[in-house]
Amino acid sequence: MDYTVMHRQSVLFPVEFWEQEARKIDWFEFPQKIHSKDSYELDRWFEGGKLNTSYLALDRHVEAGRGSQPALIWDSPVTENQKVYTYTELRDAVALFAGGLRNLGVELGDRIIIYMPMVPEAIVAMLACARIGAVHSVVFGGFAAHELAIRINDARPKLILCASGGKEIQKIIPYKPIVDAAIQEAYFKPDHCVVLQRDFVSCEMKEEYDVDWHELLAAATPSPYVPVDAWHPLYILYTSGTTGQPKGIVRDNGGHAVALNSSMEYVYNVQAGDVYWAASDIGWVVGHSYIVYGPLIRGCTTILYEGKPIKTPDAANFWRLMEKYKVNVFFTAPTAIRAIRKEDPEGEGVKGRDLSALKYLFLAGERTDVATYEWVSNLLQKPVIDHWWQTESGWPMLANMAGVGLIPIKPGSPTRPVFGFDIRILDAFGHEVANGEEGAVAIQLPLPPGCLPGLWNDNERFIKSYLSDYPGFYTSGDGGYKDDQGYFFITGRIDDVINVAGHRLSTSEMEEVLAGHTAVAECAVVGCNDELKGQVPIGFVVLKHANDANEETIALELMQRIRDTIGALASLKKVYFLERLPKTRSGKILRKIIRCIVDDVAFQPPSTIEDITVLDEIRWTVGRGGN
Ligand code: COA
Ligand code: AMP
Repeated sequence: MDYTVMHRQSVLFPVEFWEQEARKIDWFEFPQKIHSKDSYELDRWFEGGKLNTSYLALDRHVEAGRGSQPALIWDSPVTENQKVYTYTELRDAVALFAGGLRNLGVELGDRIIIYMPMVPEAIVAMLACARIGAVHSVVFGGFAAHELAIRINDARPKLILCASGGKEIQKIIPYKPIVDAAIQEAYFKPDHCVVLQRDFVSCEMKEEYDVDWHELLAAATPSPYVPVDAWHPLYILYTSGTTGQPKGIVRDNGGHAVALNSSMEYVYNVQAGDVYWAASDIGWVVGHSYIVYGPLIRGCTTILYEGKPIKTPDAANFWRLMEKYKVNVFFTAPTAIRAIRKEDPEGEGVKGRDLSALKYLFLAGERTDVATYEWVSNLLQKPVIDHWWQTESGWPMLANMAGVGLIPIKPGSPTRPVFGFDIRILDAFGHEVANGEEGAVAIQLPLPPGCLPGLWNDNERFIKSYLSDYPGFYTSGDGGYKDDQGYFFITGRIDDVINVAGHRLSTSEMEEVLAGHTAVAECAVVGCNDELKGQVPIGFVVLKHANDANEETIALELMQRIRDTIGALASLKKVYFLERLPKTRSGKILRKIIRCIVDDVAFQPPSTIEDITVLDEIRWTVGRGGN
């Protein structure tokens, strides 16, 4: 396979390319049009096609004789449980749960929020929604009640599915009280909450409103799959944007199935029967695409891991499970590798293990720093492949494509564009910059299938946020450059989004939470470098009445506000108090400069700065470790 020829064909003749890819999955009706535009003049794929994603992920493999192959292996070190579902068992579990949803009145197009830990029932629920054309929206279990309430109001779900709780290493996290608080806060009220009781944490059930998971199943009969339009939404996944309101990324059924199947072949080089493990969370896009849909559509065995890279029970557990389940492809975030390295710098956990099944380690979610790359590639002696993508794309945009043939790896680079992505580096005027020069990473339209066709109920925001900066291009929000050999490098976000331990968070949203404290006059949150998590948020606060304030108490209150409103994963590492914030003469806060000071990076203050002496105040405050 010649990359250059195939890539050129995919971007110059996308209709022909994607028609060929579309023929690799099973349709009930093949699309009438490969590419067209919707009423917003937005690009759409596979108009008129009819398919069912749950059928593609399950029934099709059973019909093809793979029914007794393991489809899903759940391994939960935190509860010391394992469970294997064959394709037949998973299909039957999904069909029965879909019947249960039907009994609660769920119809085509209804939204269902899933707020669950990493248990197989969560995957059953996702696939059951897909089976009957309901639209799931999985919310990461680490988000607090307020975040869940925002998503309830936007998605207006008929049901919420949750578990009584989850386990974070040793700590039990009761989920149900969070769900109850979110429903109370939200102005939209779902009809019911379906609750999976776990044996280590029980919860109170509200009569008439809460439905027990197992009782729902006991009364259900299996539901058949429903052919849906290619354009019908499969799911909504909320992600942080540059405002307090998260963006509801929509994924359609047709483009998603074709794109994921294509990525399994060209990017990951996996075949039916292979074992694929993405150690992510179903609350993130990696979980959707590469714990659930990608591996199952391809007929692989997928692994659902309810644990952490370290401490569950130790830093060897990733390697232990890779050996045990003969994992062929492993995918995680660089931060997880850094955590393992910190605990086990000599890589003792790998020694003596048979990892011969492992073909590749894929890394994404944040930049892979060279030290982490070198450590893990020396340790495993396998290709370590950094690849770049986003919730919006749903699948990799830059990668060293294993299914096409790996080219030499350049540490720090996610390599080159995946088929279908015409990626350019642009200056502020939309002109392509020279090789080696940094600019905005943009993608020439149309985006390939599988990428977001729009935002839930807000296509105007979609157009404004992604398509307006450079006409004819999608703006990724990342900066980067391309070298003379055509390797791309991603240098980080150029907006107010930060990446903490592979989790995407909005600093504007954090600022809104801090600003809600009665003592706060003004604030800025910036993401600063962190050896383990890549970035961590730090708050800079100007108080209303600085003289009578007890800064220590206020700092603790502000930190708690973030944990209570957004979630513990967004915890501020530090709060600094200042007399004023650095601003331009027009009043724009210079967050980038604050970041440079904290990270000790050289910078040139802009000529528009209102008062340059404020920089000394920040240096002094940060230098002495706060007030
Ligand atoms: N439910 C509830 N709480 C959660 C949670 C979840 N699913 N996930 C994280 N949290 C909480 C943690 O309990 C912790 O709370 P605490 O401050 O009260 O102790 C807080 O959020 C921060 O957790 P975490 O980000 O996991 O930090 P850590 O220091 O405990 O662990 C790592 C560090 C690197 C081990 C961890 O961040 C990790 O595994 N990262 C990889 C993440 C990943 O795979 N991302 C890829 C997405 S593609
Ligand atoms: P998310 O939508 O949560 O997957 O986060 C997407 C963002 O994570 C991207 O816009 C990047 O900023 C960052 N990211 C993901 N993968 C990489 C990578 N391989 N290299 C650098 N940054 C990455």
